[in-house]
Order: sequence, then C-alpha cells, then structure tokens
Amino acid sequence: MKKIDGNTKIIGFFGSTYKTSKMYAIYNQAFQALKLNFVYVPFVVDDLQKAVYGIRNLGIHAVGVTVPFKTDIIKFLDGLDDDARRIGAVNLVKNEAGRLIGGNTDGKGAILALKEKTEISGKRVILLGAGGAGRPIAFAVSDNCGKLTIVNRTKKTAKKLAATVGGNFAYLNDLEPLIKEADILIQATTVGMTPDENKSLIDKKMLHPRLIVQEIVNKPIETKLIKDAKAAGCQVVSGDRMLLWQAVEKFEIYTGKKAPIEVMEAALKRSLKQ
Ligand code: ATR
Repeated sequence: MKKIDGNTKIIGFFGSTYKTSKMYAIYNQAFQALKLNFVYVPFVVDDLQKAVYGIRNLGIHAVGVTVPFKTDIIKFLDGLDDDARRIGAVNLVKNEAGRLIGGNTDGKGAILALKEKTEISGKRVILLGAGGAGRPIAFAVSDNCGKLTIVNRTKKTAKKLAATVGGNFAYLNDLEPLIKEADILIQATTVGMTPDENKSLIDKKMLHPRLIVQEIVNKPIETKLIKDAKAAGCQVVSGDRMLLWQAVEKFEIYTGKKAPIEVMEAALKRSLKQ
C-alpha cells in the first residue's frame, strides 16, 4: 500500500454495510495502480449531521454514501448535482473547497453495465421496481431513449415515477404480455435477495431468448432470476456488473482520472470470492 503522508486524500464510506462492503479493495487497488495519493476508508456513522460536519472540518476529499443515509444526508449538504437532485438521493458527497455537493451514480452505473450487452436507444425496456434502486435507473433509461415501462407492486409509485421520467407503467399482473414484447428486463426490486434466494417475480415461462435480463440484486450474484434467464437462453447482466460500473463512475469523480477498469474488475472478483 502507498505510504500515507500529509498530502493523502481521504475518501470515506458512510453506510450500514461498512463492515461487509466490497469497495475497499476495489478503490484502494485502483489508487495504487495509478499511483494516486488517495485512501478509501470506512467511517462508523453515529450522528449523521456531525459526521457531515466532519467531512468539512477534517478536510475529507469525498465520501461514498449508501443505505440508510442516501436521502437523510441531503439536508446537511450545501448542494446537489443534477442527477442527485432529480433522483432525490445521493450515493456520494464531494468536498469542493468546503462546499459539500451530493451526487448520484446509481443510474449511470446500471446503464453502463447494461451497455456491455446492448444499446438501449429504441429498445422496449421493462423496469421492475420503483424504489431506491429503481428510481435512478428509470431516469437513466429515459436519458438513453429506451421505451420504458415501469412495473411495481405499488402501482401509484410506478405511475408517479413514469410521469416524472416520461414512460409507461403497469401492474405485476400485466408482466406476461409485456415481457413477450420486451427487449430488456431490469429487475430492481429487493425480491431474490438473501435470505430469499429462491424467489423471483418473473415466472420462468415468461422468459424468452430475445430478452436481455439485468439483475440489480448482488447478494447472491446468481439470483433465481439470473439462473432462470440463463436456462431460457437470455443474455444476462448480473448485479456485480452494476457494482463495478458505479464504482468506476465514482472513482472518476473522486480523482478526476480515468478509472483502471481491469484492476477494479479483478479486485471486485477477488473480494466477491472471500
Ligand atoms: P431498494 O432501495 O433496494 O430499491 P426500496 O426502496 O425499499 O429498496 O424498494 C424496494 C422495491 O422492491 C420496491 O419497488 C418494492 O415495491 P413497492 O413499491 O410496492 O414496495 C419492491 N418489492 C419489495 N418486496 C416486494 C415483493 N415481495 N413483491 C413485489 N415487489 C416488492
């Protein structure tokens, strides 16, 4: 590891998953590969407001933010970038000479992962879920000119989000005919996450080989939906790809440098095996 000195820039992490996060190795190995004098460290947040004062008063360069702070932190910041403002949540805070600005790379991360397999413009995209994970993705699909239909258990959330981003909405019961016509299905609900590994909202009979299936759940990486989609001959984008690409986006914001993607990918693979 690079020697820490008086010029080392600190990137912190605020989130309840600070003990289990896979991100330490990914960022620190990337900093090392580019010989950047940065270090990525966990912070144990007790009082969020005081923790945010700490960013400013300790000269911390930036922090990554996750559950449960993504929305609550906004009231303590000095400003938001366009993505964080329209999404209404942040996943990073940059310290710009004492001004704390919130940003959000979640939507871009998901779309970069999907773009490994397909273009999005003009494609019929079903987004399943309109919560914390679904919302940024809805904006990003719309930005990329996908023909979006949002399907959510609570229809009024889907309706509201669809109206905001300019898409359609539907019920879970409508999924079968919609999937038949769709090019891309993005699963952005919490269904299928450990300990409910055997659950999926999509009956495997609905899957067809023309469909590209993206899963946002990354615990486990092989969710039931991913297994069913592979068995049905679909191309799949599993949850670790979004983890990687949102980290790549954040790295470039933190450092202003092009991310060493292969180094980050190898570090993620290793840390997922542990
Ligand atoms: P996250 O930040 O992971 O998106 P969230 O904001 O709580 O978590 O959102 C969870 C999403 O999964 C929502 O779209 C939720 O649907 P509702 O808006 O109806 O709550 C969806 N979800 C969770 N459990 C579900 C279930 N058993 N069946 C269908 N959808 C479910």
